[in-house]
Amino acid sequence: MAASTSPSLSLDIHLGAEDLRAELERDVKSGLGGARKSLPPKWFYDTVGSKLFEEITELPEYYPTRAERALLELHAADIAVLARSDTLVELGAGSCEKTRLLLDALAASGEVRRYVPFDVSADFLKASAADLSRDYEGLQVHAVVGDFLCHLDAIPGAGRRLVAFLGGTIGNLVPTQRRRFLAALRGSMGPSDHLLLGTDLVKDVARILAAYDDAAGVTARFNRNVLSVVNRELEADFVPSRFDHVVRWDPYARWVEMHLRSDRDQLVHIGALGLTVPFARDEELLTEISAKFTPAGVEAEMVRAGFTVDRQWGADHGEFLLTLAHPGSRR
Ligand code: AVJ
Repeated sequence: MAASTSPSLSLDIHLGAEDLRAELERDVKSGLGGARKSLPPKWFYDTVGSKLFEEITELPEYYPTRAERALLELHAADIAVLARSDTLVELGAGSCEKTRLLLDALAASGEVRRYVPFDVSADFLKASAADLSRDYEGLQVHAVVGDFLCHLDAIPGAGRRLVAFLGGTIGNLVPTQRRRFLAALRGSMGPSDHLLLGTDLVKDVARILAAYDDAAGVTARFNRNVLSVVNRELEADFVPSRFDHVVRWDPYARWVEMHLRSDRDQLVHIGALGLTVPFARDEELLTEISAKFTPAGVEAEMVRAGFTVDRQWGADHGEFLLTLAHPGSRR
């Protein structure tokens, strides 16, 4: 076993503590300063939030992680044969939990030289990158800390890359963000690269709502954790227990929304910004959207961004969808 200081492990930081802090300040100012309050979901994932998300993935109600893992177990070999990649790039890698399935399949059908996990949260990334580098001898692990909405250029370009964006995280973006993101990703990819995209599918609304409002209350704690992040980072005085976890399905947008609803009239002070934020009783703060898709809808969005779809798995009666695509001609 190689030491964690092995030369095949490297870390690039494109988003340091100062950048993160400046971005959080901007997001809090614009998200809490106006009438319709919101915060971007990426701020859930400090160490506590990342652990809570891991707990969510094991809840009986939260089906997406299990459904996606089952698809990867069944089809990773097919994916590897179609993509013939020597480099795996994983956007929003988090704990790199599904990575091994893809790395093993790529190794079985060819040669895999490099793994590039990419995430906003450095803590988790460092630890899991080190684990993988220890377990896969000869694999170059090049971890990158960045924001996939602005640092796509920071992803190393060498090799035949398989860019995996799993978990359904693309559903956290609104359609215009999705369009921009997919087009930028397409622009950053070479002709022999592939994209593997995981998306949650539209299904029975009660099942979707239960997945975001579990009986044990883990998702509620995950949701409220964003308030603790703002408290710690920006010297704010949110009392998380004064906000209720609220989940709603929007049938037109076809996404589930998570809100924090103020249980009383209250003032919150954001010390670092010199900002006082009033919340009326029952006023809601939007913390996440998670869009659900149809196979045809995913294909249409990818084609519009300049991809050609190779194949989809899970499309017939599945709960979750994997789509493999490569840069193609624009329509
Ligand atoms: C990690 C973004 C895919 O949207 O389902 C889980 C996050 N939020 N429960 C999702 C989440 C509430 C999750 N993603």
